[in-house]
Amino acid sequence: MTKRAKILIVDDERSIRELLEIFLKKEGFEVKSAPSALEGLTQVKTSDFDLIISDIKMADMSGIDFLRELRASGFNDQFILLTAFASAEAAIQALKMGAFDYILKTENFMEELKLVVHKALETRRLREENTYLKREFKKVHGMGNLIGKSKKMQELFKMIEVVSVTNSTVLITGESGTGKELVAKAIHLNSPRAEEAFISVNCGAFTETLLESELFGYVRGAFTGATTNKKGLFEVADKGTIFLDEVGDTSLAMQVKLLRVLQERMIRRVGGTEEIPVDVRIIAATNRDLSEMVAESQFREDLFYRVSVIPLELPPLRHRRDDIPLLADHFLARLNASMGRKFDRISDEALKKLETYEWPGNVRELENALERSFILETSNELSAQHLPENVSTSSRMRSNANFPEEGFDLELYVENLQKSFLEEALRRTNGVQVKAAELLRMSYRSFRHYMQKYNIPS
Ligand SMILES: Nc1ncnc2c1ncn2[C@@H]1O[C@H](COP(=O)(O)OP(=O)(O)OP(=O)(O)O)[C@@H](O)[C@H]1O
Ligand SMILES: [Mg+2]
Repeated sequence: MTKRAKILIVDDERSIRELLEIFLKKEGFEVKSAPSALEGLTQVKTSDFDLIISDIKMADMSGIDFLRELRASGFNDQFILLTAFASAEAAIQALKMGAFDYILKTENFMEELKLVVHKALETRRLREENTYLKREFKKVHGMGNLIGKSKKMQELFKMIEVVSVTNSTVLITGESGTGKELVAKAIHLNSPRAEEAFISVNCGAFTETLLESELFGYVRGAFTGATTNKKGLFEVADKGTIFLDEVGDTSLAMQVKLLRVLQERMIRRVGGTEEIPVDVRIIAATNRDLSEMVAESQFREDLFYRVSVIPLELPPLRHRRDDIPLLADHFLARLNASMGRKFDRISDEALKKLETYEWPGNVRELENALERSFILETSNELSAQHLPENVSTSSRMRSNANFPEEGFDLELYVENLQKSFLEEALRRTNGVQVKAAELLRMSYRSFRHYMQKYNIPS
């Protein structure tokens, strides 16, 4: 514990006060004491205690009334009651009012007290840590951090607010890196389920059988290796939200199973027979065109209608270029904060390049480009020179109108251009080189040649 915990002892018996004070100080705590409940209340007004230990029977007030007064005055921390005799009734009442524990003043109660004090403070610490983390999480993912001033994004924010309060299934679509996961989290955090779990599952990252046991869990003996019962993520997400990312990548057999959960809000563990009800809000996302997949019988139509009760489409970054400066500032501020720098300007030239580039990888690509420049740049201003090559040589430079006055290195320019198209082709074909070569009307051999020349990882 970094800060010494502060304890207040309230007892009208002086010998007990002194005994406890000496004992707890030795344990390393900061200790104060009060001879009466009223005096205790006065001290609590001027000082923050982490824990109060109080006798149950005092001249001016009972320990129970004292606790009641404390709670009424806003004292939210730990409370331990000392009783001279076993008075179950009072003890239970104290516990009901949120006392941490009660201790009988037997001959040797100090050891027990010590244990209970440590436990109470540890519980308090965990509770604080938990609320802190939840608050931080909100700060990072709440809508405040979903940036956008473009009309398209403003409309989206309104939709998020509207759908958050409902329990409806939402389907988020959009190209890779447009912020689908961020939107899913924002919906969760703005919903009545905010304090419960948000479970994110990338459906494309598992084989069918693995995904099934991940989502639904299994019972012991369901398959080799299933040595215990295991809860699936639907159960883990109970009362909260489950985010089914890349739902378009699921097999048709899996889709049948998902449809069942959506319709009946019941799951059955792999190998099990019991129907387990789950109370989850489902948000799905995909960067594929599900209606096209339905037309090609790769996605079940009934599931499509079920998941897309509320469709939210995220526009690609190139369709909302007015968000680019804002996002750039946001990411730079975050990088500054995490690395303790004051890198806060973007040169006009660099900004122009950021604003005209196509951003096939959308916001994620912008974020990565900025992080890279941030690391390479030694001054406090982001110059065009440190932007990734494909960003700095793209778009407008392609037209003769942008032939710079002072001339330029054509060969380097062409090479950069070539490299960026090779990379884009690989992106579009998910790294399948034969297909990427086809897209660029190149033989596979020359494609490989250029990949090596430009150091493009395969
Ligand atoms: N509007 C936004 N404001 C701030 N940050 C954003 C925004 N959109 C996306 N980002 C950031 O861009 C990155 C990519 O976002 P996210 O992972 O949500 O995208 P995605 O659509 O789920 O991508 P993929 O399809 O590749 O999974 C994240 O680091 C996210 O924080
Ligand atoms: Mg994602």
